[in-house]
Amino acid sequence: MKPKVLITRNLLPEAMAFLNKHLDCCVGAINRNIEREELLALIKDKDGILSLLVDKIDKEVIDAAPSLKIIANCAVGYNNIDTAYAKKKGIFVTNTPDVLTETTADLTWALILAVARKIPQAEQYTRNQLFKGWELDLFLGKEIFGKRLGIIGMGRIGKAVAERARAFQMLTIYYDPIRLTRFEESRFIASPLPLDDVLATSDIVTLHTTLTPETYHLITEDRLRSMKKGAILINVSRGQIIDEKALVKALADKWIWGAGLDVYEKEPEIRKKLFSFDNVVLLPHIGSATYETRLKMAMMAADNLVKGLSGKKPPNPVF
Ligand code: GLV
Repeated sequence: MKPKVLITRNLLPEAMAFLNKHLDCCVGAINRNIEREELLALIKDKDGILSLLVDKIDKEVIDAAPSLKIIANCAVGYNNIDTAYAKKKGIFVTNTPDVLTETTADLTWALILAVARKIPQAEQYTRNQLFKGWELDLFLGKEIFGKRLGIIGMGRIGKAVAERARAFQMLTIYYDPIRLTRFEESRFIASPLPLDDVLATSDIVTLHTTLTPETYHLITEDRLRSMKKGAILINVSRGQIIDEKALVKALADKWIWGAGLDVYEKEPEIRKKLFSFDNVVLLPHIGSATYETRLKMAMMAADNLVKGLSGKKPPNPVF
């Protein structure tokens, strides 16, 4: 008999075909995210679950499934899972690292350029047929080339962002509790600095840390106040890393020049005030959203689930 699993939401067809071949799959919701009550009801008799970053897999969910052996998250982040409790119960937790690194770094740059060059506003203007001819001061943005880039969180994605910064001949500085090797620092042309120095001296600050109790509201009101008036803040990691209420103040009172956000503190809720700023670009958490990458993520999560249920250690455990 195949192990019974819950796939919280239908994945791309190739991944579903692979899963159906190896496991007895129940898909929780089609083309929408699963509701909490559905999750609690459907997980009861399952050996494994393939979850998405929007599915909260806490103690209540874990306790609802006495035979649960693996939680395979289809995301690199896993702050949606109570990993300490899963570990205590001997349940594997896996994620999908590496495959989304380059795509997320690309999106980071798309956001940096969109904010700096006012791309969404200029596109809307053109689409609204307001373009009447070249003007010297039309949509004047900020120069990126040669500027100072501050990367907070120099893991896989932070490094891929730094790699791209070389093409813009930027001076890259970074903050990470773990210092890169000398070899990596020279490869990425990146120098380490304390967090407050990165914030106070960068023209662009981009966040690439995981969300943990230590990084929750890492970007406080005081830290926002310490940034350069002309700075741009980019967040493609997790919304809770920024004190979003303070960010609204920072944008309203022009402590910083602009922001590009792909993630929000109370996602999918977005603070209404953010919609009123024309120096902000807002995206709907699409950091890794290319067909190729999302397929790789789904296949990786599926592979973790299948292997974890065959008695082997899954390839991408988070602990
Ligand atoms: C996306 O946010 C992910 O964690 O994969």
